[in-house]
Amino acid sequence: MCTATPAAPHVPAPPTYRTRRDVKEEGKAERETMQLHKGKGVASANTSDDTLPWIEKYRPSTLEEVTGHQDIISTIERFIDGGKVPHMLLYGPPGTGKTSTILACARKIYGPKYKNQILELNASDDRGIDVVREQIKTFSSTRQISMGPASAAGPGFKLVVLDEADAMTQVAQNALRRTIEKYTRNVRFCIICNYVNKIITPIQSRCTRFRFSPLPIESVRHRVDHVIEAEGVKITDDGREALLKLSKGDMRRALNVLQACHAAYPNTSEEEVYACVGNPHPADLSLILNSMMSEEFYTSLRTITEIKTLKGLALQDILGGVYEQLEGVGLPVQVRVTVLERLAEIEYRLSTGSTEKIQLSAMIGGVKAGLDLAVNEV
Ligand SMILES: Nc1ncnc2c1ncn2[C@@H]1O[C@H](COP(=O)(O)OP(=O)(O)O)[C@@H](O)[C@H]1O
Ligand SMILES: [Mg+2]
Repeated sequence: MCTATPAAPHVPAPPTYRTRRDVKEEGKAERETMQLHKGKGVASANTSDDTLPWIEKYRPSTLEEVTGHQDIISTIERFIDGGKVPHMLLYGPPGTGKTSTILACARKIYGPKYKNQILELNASDDRGIDVVREQIKTFSSTRQISMGPASAAGPGFKLVVLDEADAMTQVAQNALRRTIEKYTRNVRFCIICNYVNKIITPIQSRCTRFRFSPLPIESVRHRVDHVIEAEGVKITDDGREALLKLSKGDMRRALNVLQACHAAYPNTSEEEVYACVGNPHPADLSLILNSMMSEEFYTSLRTITEIKTLKGLALQDILGGVYEQLEGVGLPVQVRVTVLERLAEIEYRLSTGSTEKIQLSAMIGGVKAGLDLAVNEV
């Protein structure tokens, strides 16, 4: 669900807060952080600097600290311990620990001075065909200086990390294919992306693939609890549960929202979390649904518009919420199908830039049309 949400007028906007408008923006925010660190080293994990966003401050520095992907981590650890690291392709939704895993790997392989041994390129760098040919080649072809805790001779290879590789052009990816083969002797490639099908198959087949699924809620809870304790965040139990639910397995989102709430409110409860994210509170959603189901059309339109304006909600979010709420309402199949079809249509129209006002009326109309079916059936 896209959360393109106008900021609620009564919610102060803390500087570190970012909504997950879409994957692209996530990537952009991440790239900005990366840019800051570029050249000076990327993972400034666990520093005591209070100005750092928490996602950087609490970036795992070791593989053990990466939560929720035990199988992947133990496989990668075995690769490193055995001195046989393959080219790797890490893919999956944002905020699940892909970049952190690779940085922790580099630290494990090369020790604290790992920054000299990796070439990190992300989507904000120019990664056209020239970069693939020149920058990677220059880095790949220089021999690795012996270092590393594993042995005196070092691991014998360097790492090229291509973050957000799904943003690379096909031509650049094709050029990369030959580069990978040519320099396999002293370079390992770590390719990171959100959508694996945007990576050309010849590259996929040269890599060991790891899928990072959305983090289980317990893994997010584990890390979030750690941060809450370390930062002394005042949060109620229902606030914590709302935060975990809204994070949808995205740790970056969870930590950003937590930091935003901490900056904006002295005490965080469910109410504040929903306000911060801009998502409709479940109580408001039940009001909206009840209004559509029981009130007359214009009354319902007025009620919903009032809630929408008061809480600064986006129709897209209301639509998603109403959909979830409908699951708990016992409706005949035909009615459900009709209503869902209407909602789907409205969601599509919203995504193509339709007016919220008209689509709100359409939503009420859609629900009412579905209910009329049920009445006629009886
Ligand atoms: N599995 C995880 N364990 C612990 N922290 C995580 C995990 N995944 C993400 N994070 C937190 O979220 C931030 C962003 O993670 P990152 O590795 O950059 O995600 P991705 O590259 O998958 O988008 C990290 O700095 C870290 O604080
Ligand atoms: Mg990343």
